[in-house]
Amino acid sequence: MKRRAPATERNRTFILDVLSKVLAGRERALEIASGTGEHAVFFAQSLPSVVWQPTDLDDVSIGSIDAWRADSGLQNLLPARRLDVCEADWGVSNIDAIVCINMIHIAPWAVTRALFKGAAKLLPPGAPVYLYGPYRFPDEPLAPSNQSFDASLRQRDSTWGIRDIDEVTTVAREEGFERVQVTAMPANNHSVVFNRAG
Ligand SMILES: C[S@@+](CC[C@H](N)C(=O)[O-])C[C@H]1O[C@@H](n2cnc3c(N)ncnc32)[C@H](O)[C@@H]1O
Repeated sequence: MKRRAPATERNRTFILDVLSKVLAGRERALEIASGTGEHAVFFAQSLPSVVWQPTDLDDVSIGSIDAWRADSGLQNLLPARRLDVCEADWGVSNIDAIVCINMIHIAPWAVTRALFKGAAKLLPPGAPVYLYGPYRFPDEPLAPSNQSFDASLRQRDSTWGIRDIDEVTTVAREEGFERVQVTAMPANNHSVVFNRAG
C-alpha cells in the first residue's frame, strides 16, 4: 500500500538539485532507507540515466515502495529490496553511488558506521555516498526547530538523535571515505557528500 511522508514533497526538488550533480556520470544508485518510496520515484523519474535500487529495513516500507513503483511504470526503478545496513552482506552488487536520506538520526549511532562499512565493500574508488538530514556543527547551537526535533527523537528512542557532522566524518574517514561537500538546505538540513578514497 502506498504510504506518504509529506516532507518528501517539500524537500525533493532541493535534494534533486544537489543530487543531479553528485550523480552525474553514475549508472546505478543504491538508495538506503527509502521509506515510503516517494523519493525513489521522483529521483528515478528525474534522472532517467540512473538505474535506481530502492531498499529499506522494514516490510511495510518495501510494500509502499513497490506500490509507488508499480504506479510509476518507470523502467529505471528496480523492485525494492530489504536491506539492513547492519547486516554483513547487503546482497547487492554493481553499484556506483549510495543515497541515504534522513536515516542516521533515526537509528542508533552504530548504524552510521555500518552504513560506511557496507558502502566501502560495495563502491569503487571515487564513488559518492550522499547523506541528507539535520546535523550538529562544531561551536554552533542547533537551530530551535532542530533542538525540539532532537529532543523528540531522543524521547522516542534514547539511541536516536541529530548527529555531529565531525563525528560522522571521522567514522566515514575510518571506513575509507573523504568528505567532499557540505551544502546547506532548507529547513536546517544539509546535504553531505563523501567519496570513496581511491
Ligand atoms: C525517517 S525514515 C526516512 C525515509 C526516507 N528516506 C525519507 O526521507 O522519507 C527512516 C528510514 O530508515 C530506515 N532504517 C532505519 N534503520 C535502518 C537500517 N539499519 N538499515 C536500513 N534502513 C534503516 C527505516 O526503516 C525508515 O524507513
